[in-house]
Amino acid sequence: MDHFQLRDGRLHAEDVPLARIAEEVGTPVYVYSCATLQRHARIFREALSGVDNPHIAFAVKANPNLAVLRVLANEGYGADVVSGGELIRALAAGMEPKDIVFSGVGKTHAELLQALEAGIGQFNVESEEEGRELAAIAVSRGVRAACALRVNPDVDARTHEKISTGKRENKFGVSLDQAGAIYARLVSEDGLDMRGIAVHIGSQLAELEPLEIAFDKVGALIIELRKSGCAVTHADLGGGLGVPYKSGEILPSPAEYGAMVERVTREWDVRLTFEPGRIIAGNAGVLLTRVIRVKRGIARPFVIVDAGMNDLARPALYGAWHDFEAVRPTGERMIAHVVGPICETGDTFAMDRECDELKTGDLAIFRTAGAYGATMASSYNSRGFVPEVLVSGNSYAVVADRIPASEIMAAERVPSWLE
Ligand code: LLP
Repeated sequence: MDHFQLRDGRLHAEDVPLARIAEEVGTPVYVYSCATLQRHARIFREALSGVDNPHIAFAVKANPNLAVLRVLANEGYGADVVSGGELIRALAAGMEPKDIVFSGVGKTHAELLQALEAGIGQFNVESEEEGRELAAIAVSRGVRAACALRVNPDVDARTHEKISTGKRENKFGVSLDQAGAIYARLVSEDGLDMRGIAVHIGSQLAELEPLEIAFDKVGALIIELRKSGCAVTHADLGGGLGVPYKSGEILPSPAEYGAMVERVTREWDVRLTFEPGRIIAGNAGVLLTRVIRVKRGIARPFVIVDAGMNDLARPALYGAWHDFEAVRPTGERMIAHVVGPICETGDTFAMDRECDELKTGDLAIFRTAGAYGATMASSYNSRGFVPEVLVSGNSYAVVADRIPASEIMAAERVPSWLE
């Protein structure tokens, strides 16, 4: 459940009419609901009540807005980061260094150093090479880096191929048949405190079974490692839970996920970390847009909105579905293609979509845009970056300014030899 609902025939974010935000901030604009973020954070934590002292690290990539991170820090969440930039954000939002996990297959030397100096809680090392590099940096600084080794369990997550990360041919983690030997070799590095295993098989998972298969493989590896004399005190189970993008879609609930985790990991005797992203932020945000005009098409009209694929990339990138609704529905319906203003056919949010009837100047929303929305925006077609608003009760704050194209251009220059 989220807090973007109709009241007196008009869509609100909590108690604030979306039309008011459009009027005062302009469109397109991302709108987040604080109450929804808090609700999801609590539901996810509650779902893990059968797990002893879970560590929950929000996947910052899903929504790195500082205010959003602060809401989650206030809920006791740490952060899963994948770059030096995300690390800076998590710290700025008030997350404790010890609650930060650093994932990613391409951490640079500078990023490893930055994270070590910040004193983060755990590095999820994705290769032996990375482990050795981290060890050398740690030794040179006279510290030890707490590490988990990310494994690739070769499991098909049955999600979109571009967001599937746990198959053998994917770049992530080390294969299970090499993991024991690599772990043992990294244990002997002075700069490392090898303490566990990490796994993440993909995102927007619609079934729990692939996760369970992956977790079982991690459980078997933990036994194998302990048999060979290695200590394992931690396991990081990643993120991946899917959310409904279409109204009426049913996905595994956090409670079902929690029960599965509890059952599968009961004998592991480790501290578990979780890296949820989408399940926390996805339905806590919408992209509010205005209809520029409705153009007659051959078979269907084109509803041309002022948001484009540069603002919300998911439909163009993954063919993703986002529910599309009028802010002030009349009760009339239409079938239309919903497109943005950008110069390519990929800038299509929906084809042959049955939706509320819309005309020039009307406001509408794309739902479930709180995760992997604003964060994946670009300035393609020299469009600026869309602002972000956080609503709480009957008030709201602009938590990211609109960055106009002129400001982006201000960072460019023509060299003197061209003058
Ligand atoms: N942990 C790791 C190591 C990850 O790579 C990811 C997501 C997560 C956690 C969080 O996964 P979540 O709980 O959000 O499923 N841009 C794509 C999604 C990419 C996900 C990348 N990794 C999209 O818009 O669908």
